[in-house]
Amino acid sequence: MPDRFLAVEEARISFGEGDARVRALRGVSATFERGTLSLVMGPSGSGKTTLLSLLGCLLSPDEGTVFVDGVAVNELSASEKTVLRRKKISFVFQAFRLLHSLSAIDNVALGLEIRDGRRADQIVMARELLLQFGLGDKLNREPSGLSPGEKQRVAIARALAGNPPILLADEPTASLDAEAGRSICQILRSQVDKNGRTVVVVSHDPRWKEFADRTITLSDGQIKPQAQGQHA
Ligand SMILES: Nc1ncnc2c1ncn2[C@@H]1O[C@H](COP(=O)(O)OP(=O)(O)OP(=O)(O)O)[C@@H](O)[C@H]1O
Ligand SMILES: [Mg+2]
Repeated sequence: MPDRFLAVEEARISFGEGDARVRALRGVSATFERGTLSLVMGPSGSGKTTLLSLLGCLLSPDEGTVFVDGVAVNELSASEKTVLRRKKISFVFQAFRLLHSLSAIDNVALGLEIRDGRRADQIVMARELLLQFGLGDKLNREPSGLSPGEKQRVAIARALAGNPPILLADEPTASLDAEAGRSICQILRSQVDKNGRTVVVVSHDPRWKEFADRTITLSDGQIKPQAQGQHA
């Protein structure tokens, strides 16, 4: 039986009212097993970001249940949910979302500060992460002095500050060229293989398939039956 480390069961969510009502997810069930990389594909508007937002406890379903670390999220208070999200989940986005006036290392250290609250060793840990991602010579650069691929590596380092077991990435390679994109695929794959993290990547980019343990395809707010795309 799956341990419901990260899962949605019969999740439904709509936005808007009346004629403007959009049923973004229409009964979606999926389990994201510990220590795997899952790819979520599907056309624009099919519900990919909405699903990721449910998994990340940024949205609550109208119906159905989200499980994070085996806990039914809808049974938690708002503050318990915030604690769970901070400890367990981190996010990476297409647009990097770095702070422009801070150096690479301070962007990562800020991630540690927000997550952990402990000031000691933040800079040491931030440096370690950036060295690991090949940015040892760019620690003090501000984002404006970094390439898109480098910015995304800083953003991933920031997301990993504090060692969250779950990483959710929404189109992390959409703004990157082929080489930079491949490096991000490799980094997220190694977070699964070396650190046992659970990674969910939303992407249109078919290059991710090679790095994913399995692919879920959404269509109009539902999961398409899986005839192919399973990588054992
Ligand atoms: N906050 C919102 N308010 C109103 N409608 C929304 C909201 N968020 C999503 N939607 C609608 O829900 C549907 C699913 O949106 P979602 O962003 O999950 O799609 P997506 O698969 O991530 O698309 P894309 O590939 O373009 O990012 C779309 O029709 C979208 O317009
Ligand atoms: Mg989206």
